Amino acid sequence: MITTHQPVMVDEVITYLITTPDGIYVDGTVGTGGHSAEIGKRIGPKGELICLDVDRSSIGLAKKRLSAFGEKIKIIRESYLDLDRVLKRIGIDGLNGILLDLGVSSYQLESSGRGFSFLKDEPLDMRMDQDRNITARELVNNSSMERLEGFLWNYAEERWAKLIARAIVEERRRGSITSSRQLALLIETTIPAKYHPRKRHPATKTFQALRIAVNGELDNIADFLEKTPLLLVKGGRLVVISYHSLEDRLVKQAFHHWEKGEVYPRKLPVFPKARPSLMKALRKKGLRPCQDEVNVNPRSRSAIMRVAERI
Ligand SMILES: C[S@@+](CC[C@H](N)C(=O)[O-])C[C@H]1O[C@@H](n2cnc3c(N)ncnc32)[C@H](O)[C@@H]1O
Repeated sequence: MITTHQPVMVDEVITYLITTPDGIYVDGTVGTGGHSAEIGKRIGPKGELICLDVDRSSIGLAKKRLSAFGEKIKIIRESYLDLDRVLKRIGIDGLNGILLDLGVSSYQLESSGRGFSFLKDEPLDMRMDQDRNITARELVNNSSMERLEGFLWNYAEERWAKLIARAIVEERRRGSITSSRQLALLIETTIPAKYHPRKRHPATKTFQALRIAVNGELDNIADFLEKTPLLLVKGGRLVVISYHSLEDRLVKQAFHHWEKGEVYPRKLPVFPKARPSLMKALRKKGLRPCQDEVNVNPRSRSAIMRVAERI
C-alpha cells in the first residue's frame, strides 16, 4: 500500500512562495509531489517549477503524480545541495522562490520499507538516497558507544543518550541489531517505564537521531542556507518548513546572519562594520499550522514555517 503524504501548510506556502505566476520556482524536497501539485496549479503557462529529491522511489511517484503538468514541471533526482549546479546545467540564473519541506515523508515512514518507523518491522536502513553507502544498521552495529551517544544527544537531544548507547553496545554482543522493531523494543525496555513520554513512543528521538546521522540532514541544511541568497532574484523568497527545534535553529541562525549582510554564516567571521542585508525575514516569528489543519493532519502539529526575501 502506498501512503499518501499530506502536504503541510499548503495555503501558507502558496501565499508566501508565489510572488508572480510567471516566475521560476524550486521545490527542493518534492517527496511524492504534494506541495508541487498545488504550486503547479498556481503558476501560469510561462511559470516553471523545478522539483528535486534524492529518494528514487519518491521521485518515481512524484513523476506520475505531476505528469499532467507537462513541461511546466521538471523533476530531477538530485540533492537540493546541488541546486546551483542543476540551475547552471539547465540555464537558469535566478529563482523567484525556493521551498524546502524538511524531514521525512509519510510515504517514507509508512510504505518505503526502509526502517524509518519504530512502528514497523523492517530492515534498519533509513537512507533517503538509496545510493548512499552508510545505513542505520551500519551505524548502530559499528559505531563506538561515545559516537552513538553523540548522535542521540546532538541530533535529538535525547536525555537517555548514554543509557541507550550502552544498551545498544551490550545488545550487539549477543548479535547484530538488524530491524526497526528490534531497536524500538530495545529502547522501550531500556528507558525506565515511568519515564516513557506520554504522547510519543520512547524510541522517537533515537529514530530521529539515526535518520539525521544517516542522511547528514543538519549539515545539508546549513550548507544549503549558505548558498541560498545567491540563488534568488531580488524579491525572490525562501520558504522553509521545519519539524524540530534543531532544524529550525539553523534556519533562524541563517536569517540572523543574512540580516547582518553575511552570505556564509558558518565560514566568515562576524563583520565589525554593518553591511547591507542580503535577505530579510518576512515575519519575525515562525508560522504554525492552524488548529483545523492539525486536527486533520496530526503530522503537521510540529511544523514551523519561516520565510525570507532577497533584497
Ligand atoms: C517532508 S518530505 C517532503 C514532502 C513533500 N513536500 C510533499 O508534499 O510530498 C521531505 C523530502 O525531502 C527529501 N530530502 C531529504 N534530503 C534531501 C536532499 N538533500 N535533497 C533533496 N531532497 C531531500 C526526502 O527524501 C523527502 O522526500
